[in-house]
Amino acid sequence: MSVEERFAFLAEWYDPNAALLRRYQLLFYPKDGSVEMFDVKNQRIFLRRTKYDCLHLEDLFVGNRLNIFSRQLHLIDYGDQHTASKLGSKKQRTLAMIKPDAVAKMGTIIQLINDAGLTITKAKMTTFSRKEAVDFYAEHQSKSFFNNLLQFITSGPIIAMEIFGDEAVAAWRRLLGPTDSSAARTEAPDSVRAKFGTDGTKNAAHGSDSIASAARELEFFFPSTVAHGPINTATYHHCTCCIIKPHAVAEGLTGNILNAILDAGFQITALQMFSMDRANAEEFYEVYKGVVAEYVSMVEELCAGPCIALEICGPEAPKAFREFCGPADPEIARHLRPQTLRAIFGKNKLKNAVHCTDLPEDGILEVQYFFKILDG
Ligand code: RTP
Ligand code: MG
Repeated sequence: MSVEERFAFLAEWYDPNAALLRRYQLLFYPKDGSVEMFDVKNQRIFLRRTKYDCLHLEDLFVGNRLNIFSRQLHLIDYGDQHTASKLGSKKQRTLAMIKPDAVAKMGTIIQLINDAGLTITKAKMTTFSRKEAVDFYAEHQSKSFFNNLLQFITSGPIIAMEIFGDEAVAAWRRLLGPTDSSAARTEAPDSVRAKFGTDGTKNAAHGSDSIASAARELEFFFPSTVAHGPINTATYHHCTCCIIKPHAVAEGLTGNILNAILDAGFQITALQMFSMDRANAEEFYEVYKGVVAEYVSMVEELCAGPCIALEICGPEAPKAFREFCGPADPEIARHLRPQTLRAIFGKNKLKNAVHCTDLPEDGILEVQYFFKILDG
């Protein structure tokens, strides 16, 4: 008789009432998609084995944050050897960077990454200063193309992303194609550089070339030791705020939503992925408290996983962008305004793909909340 397969993790949950971190052993049974939790300190069952449809095998990796019955759990380690070798061995993180010449193609490139089964776990739009560029490309300092490279890479905003998945370093390099875009067009015509690059320097995107480079380059953009990485690109000028909600990010809709926004003529002048905690989500939605019946569920959705905050600019941005998002309820949107973001990408009133600023005068304030306060 075979034993039923199960995967074990060590998970942490911040208990706001007791103001402490609680540790659980989390078990997942793939056969019926059920979960079970044990309180590590008190050595007792915390959650009896229960089927939980929202959890999938691909969500289970160390470092991920899961929402289980409204608790945000942080997976901090594998719980046994079987889980580590079966789910952990091939997993890697790498740095992907969309270079200045391809930022306008961000939607399509992000879609390609998701379609390849890779997950974007961090993202930030920034602009390289000359000094940052020299540091980042230090290994190429003596090369003949160094000055060209510096000039190109500082010429406009870039988007840095942490990508996670099976053999992510090689997988993303494969998607990128050869360094020289013309070579890419003959050797790997479907690659990112073949499609969006121009030549040997202007080649659309970057990928770390080894696990060691990935670690160094991820630390450069997403530092774990100092408080702040490279500065974001928010302008706080004629702008409005859009949040791609956690459900939409998790469903892999980010690329399509970004494409739709850009195709409609809006400018995306800042972009960053955030994992909101409950207190931040409550604060951000403060104005809806006591006004909108769904306030509590809205808060829950906003902190259910990573979201992507955008600064959107354009003439009349707050009003025009709000119209482009459409009615808050996707069902209504599909009847009345079928071309709007929520009509196309929304599921229901809570999982309605995007948040956008309601009142024009709040546009800057909401952008500041993410890009000044949370990224402060
Ligand atoms: P990346 O680091 O950007 O992922 O590209 P890579 O590994 O394929 O290429 P690498 O040799 O590391 O070069 C870094 C970047 O410098 C520019 N370059 N220009 N001959 C040239 O004009 C030349 N060679 C390299 C490219 O932007 C290249 O991606
Ligand atoms: Mg390289």
